[in-house]
Amino acid sequence: MLSLSSPIGVFDSGVGGLSVLKQIQAQLPHEDLLYVADQAHVPYGPRSKSEVQQFSAAITRFLLAQEARLIVVACNTASAAALSELRRSFPEVSFVGMEPAVKPAAQATRTGKVGVLATTGTFASERYAALMARYAAGVEVFSDPCLGLVERIEAGELDSTETVALLAGIVRPMVAQGVDTLVLGCTHYPFVLPALRELVGTAVPIIDPAPAVARQVGRVLAMEPEAAHALPPGRVVLFTSGSGSQFQAQVRRLWGEAAVVKTAVWHEAAGELSLQINGVEL
Ligand code: DGL
Repeated sequence: MLSLSSPIGVFDSGVGGLSVLKQIQAQLPHEDLLYVADQAHVPYGPRSKSEVQQFSAAITRFLLAQEARLIVVACNTASAAALSELRRSFPEVSFVGMEPAVKPAAQATRTGKVGVLATTGTFASERYAALMARYAAGVEVFSDPCLGLVERIEAGELDSTETVALLAGIVRPMVAQGVDTLVLGCTHYPFVLPALRELVGTAVPIIDPAPAVARQVGRVLAMEPEAAHALPPGRVVLFTSGSGSQFQAQVRRLWGEAAVVKTAVWHEAAGELSLQINGVEL
């Protein structure tokens, strides 16, 4: 039986969702948080929809087995590929997903030109097409799948010469064509916000939907009966399906505070994937 003290489960292909986890922790500091970085499979962007659906379903089962009472898909690519499927397959579970913030960008732009940075998988999705049809009428959208950027962020290259050159090649032409609002449609990208800010200047708002996602998590939890909120700070446990020592170093840099880091391993039996705790606590 899940209780109000059960954790919130959050996942992404890698370290990107830590940008969302940060916001959830800031807004809901008493909640216990479980995070899965599926670094065995990062990046999700170039993968097929069915592959991302399989990973997402298996990670959801993993988080539910640890009593998560709400699942946050802290990944635009996984939300685009799998959120509807997850809601169908786990009807009793509350999910909060992500989508590129096209709506607020379309409202904010003065030039009528908006830049969206996301992944190939997000741009190719029906969900994104529906988002564009609904909110981007009358707005010119410049989109870029930022090839190689997720890998650079995973490698910790947040402001290397190559990363800055990659970003410059993406955003400078957008700004030159009149884009005045940028959308971060991948949860990895907030980690290069300082570099992006340098490139586009302060006049161009850069929209990261993570705070809004954390508020949505708060709204969903508020629908639960009143919890005892005079609680100690929540415990944070971070899993990776990749290298534990590499993740440990990434967490130190990108998360910056105490968290338990563990590894999990993928298994395949009878054609079904499952993620299992490796038992190694680092
Ligand atoms: N962080 C992810 C997103 O929000 C996925 C990036 C990737 O693995 O390609 O889209």
